Amino acid sequence: MLDRTVKIAPSILSADFADFGREIQAIEAQGADWVHVDVMDGHFVPNLTFGPPAVKAFRPHVKTVMDVHLMISPVDAYIDAYAEAGADILTAHLEAGPHSHRTLQAIRGAGMKAGLALNPGTPAEAVEHLLDLTDLICVMTVNPGFGGQKFIDMTDKIRKLSAMIGDRPVHIEIDGGVDPSTAPLVVEAGADVLVAGSAVFRGGSVDKAEVYGENIAAIRSAATGASAAA
Ligand code: DX5
Ligand code: ZN
Repeated sequence: MLDRTVKIAPSILSADFADFGREIQAIEAQGADWVHVDVMDGHFVPNLTFGPPAVKAFRPHVKTVMDVHLMISPVDAYIDAYAEAGADILTAHLEAGPHSHRTLQAIRGAGMKAGLALNPGTPAEAVEHLLDLTDLICVMTVNPGFGGQKFIDMTDKIRKLSAMIGDRPVHIEIDGGVDPSTAPLVVEAGADVLVAGSAVFRGGSVDKAEVYGENIAAIRSAATGASAAA
């Protein structure tokens, strides 16, 4: 059975870009379940981050799960490079090209879990014939490209996906604008992986890492309906 307990995946897009190793160690020590890595190409999205050599350098610091979100087009030519870099999960956008079916097969063929991300304008039904090739659907609740944007309510899409997925071992991940006020809405609709950038890193630093811990705990408590830790 797939683990559907809520998992918090801080996005290192909001970390100190000069100190990724220590930032990753800090968020994991403070309760991160996965580490979310946002790869942007300045073409599929209007922002540019890092590529395979940087992701490879992150790998030894990640003890949990390295969840790599590709906001690049095309994808297929780079799949082997991200496998070699050590990605556990490699997520491509459905909108990145006409052959998502082939892309998902290639990701699994390279030994990684295969994720498929959907922009806000893409309907749930678009993944219907891809679900058996997919380990994770990432529902974007902002237009991809930047951290710190306002949450777009996609709860109806999450509910439809959850029903379509049924018993299949497919995670539903939410990415964009997740904080303690929005987390309960998406978890109630069926999400189990919550990416959060600004809501995790806000107010903290590697030398004030306990703030990361408080921020992660606040999202988790809100999402699971538990009372906030004293
Ligand atoms: C957006 C990225 C997100 C981003 C989330 O394009 O895919 O992972 O870092 O940032 P917040 O949580 O600040 O919206
Ligand atoms: Zn992301």
